Amino acid sequence: MKTALITGVTGQDGSYLCEFLLGKGYDVHGTIRRSSTDYRERISHLEGQPNFHLHYADMGDSMSLIQVLNKVKPDEVYNLAAQSHVQVSFDSPEFTADVDATGVLRILEAIRQTGLANRCRLYQASTSELYGKVVEVPQNENTPFYPYSPYAVAKLYGYWIVKEYREAYNMFCCNGILFNHESERRGETFVTRKITLAAARIAQGKQEKLLLGNLSSLRDWGYAKDYVECMWLMLQHDRPEDFVIATGVQHSVRDFCHLAFKEAGIDLEFVGEGLDEKGLDKASGKVLVEVSPDFYRPTDVVNLWGDPTKAKAVLGWNPTKTSFEELVRIMVRHDMKKVAADDAADQVRKMNLVEYLEKGIVK
Ligand code: NAP
Ligand code: GDD
Repeated sequence: MKTALITGVTGQDGSYLCEFLLGKGYDVHGTIRRSSTDYRERISHLEGQPNFHLHYADMGDSMSLIQVLNKVKPDEVYNLAAQSHVQVSFDSPEFTADVDATGVLRILEAIRQTGLANRCRLYQASTSELYGKVVEVPQNENTPFYPYSPYAVAKLYGYWIVKEYREAYNMFCCNGILFNHESERRGETFVTRKITLAAARIAQGKQEKLLLGNLSSLRDWGYAKDYVECMWLMLQHDRPEDFVIATGVQHSVRDFCHLAFKEAGIDLEFVGEGLDEKGLDKASGKVLVEVSPDFYRPTDVVNLWGDPTKAKAVLGWNPTKTSFEELVRIMVRHDMKKVAADDAADQVRKMNLVEYLEKGIVK
């Protein structure tokens, strides 16, 4: 039985990778951070399984990383932990650099210092954000980088330190240059999930309108469940290499919006330009989508489009297992149910509150 350690196991990708590796018969260990609220929603269904274990560790704390590596002695490490929100990296640039750049160095050194350098393989969650202010389209493994946010600059260090340790110490470590991948478990402030949740709420009369930033931004969006397979394939390959993981298909934020609302039963029509652009409900003429400068970034990456030729040829990976249309459908159908269920739960909470007020339990 192989043993894997996943940093960032509570995240979108961590939770899918965990399920994937458990399915392959791995003993799976994940790192978690202490929090005052419940943050294990994505992995709660796995807790209690005999081959699934959790350990406290933080990418900002070398001692915790050395401790967990010593205890687990993994065959494979998947370094997914990161401050992963690009817009937030403008507000917390130093924290982002510490976790997303120096954190990668810490885990590589922890592998070396625990004597695992010769037997443990490492996957690093690199990103299409490295291409930033793109110099060519589509982007492949040889496209020059032009990082365009504090997040991307931090991830660029992570990318290069992984290459450095591969060459300096002959370690088996790879960068997966993953383009955007989404799912029904995507964090609610990333644009796709913000749209699918809003479409569901608006369709059910729970929200008036949706405020977005740059509607013309282009992304190569895939399904997270398909992408975690590729992380594993990279570590099963006979030599450590870096790979672009993408679908090879590009859409705008506006396209995503259009399709998501259609799936929720609303036909949108976009009129106007820039900050004045609006998405109207074709049937009623009501404005449902507006542009707000609050969601514009100081520098924005607007033209990501990946070329997955190498991953297809070398790893035998299928980039179009789940189409863009299917991805949007999965997310909207999930959120339509979630919004309806949340509402029922809210009503129970309100009824409890009324009862508590009457009994004087809540003042
Ligand atoms: P996510 O949902 O935001 O999950 C991030 C994970 O990192 C969470 O488990 C989080 O833990 C953990 N984390 C954050 N700071 C940490 C710290 N200081 N110490 C330990 N753990 C920490 O991100 P994701 O979408 O799954 O992405 C996974 C990785 O792939 C990230 O490195 C991201 O930058 C990269 N990536 C993502 C995409 C994409 O489209 N999703 C594309 C390219 C690359 P908490 O739950 O405790 O916050
Ligand atoms: N989040 C957000 N919210 N983005 C918006 C909004 C909005 O209201 N309106 C427009 N956008 C635009 C952003 O300006 C950006 O150009 C695009 O939608 C995608 O934004 P996000 O969904 O936040 O993702 P991202 O591309 O910045 O970053 C994600 O993908 C990267 C890979 O390319 C994250 O998962 C990163 O961790 C990952 O590395």
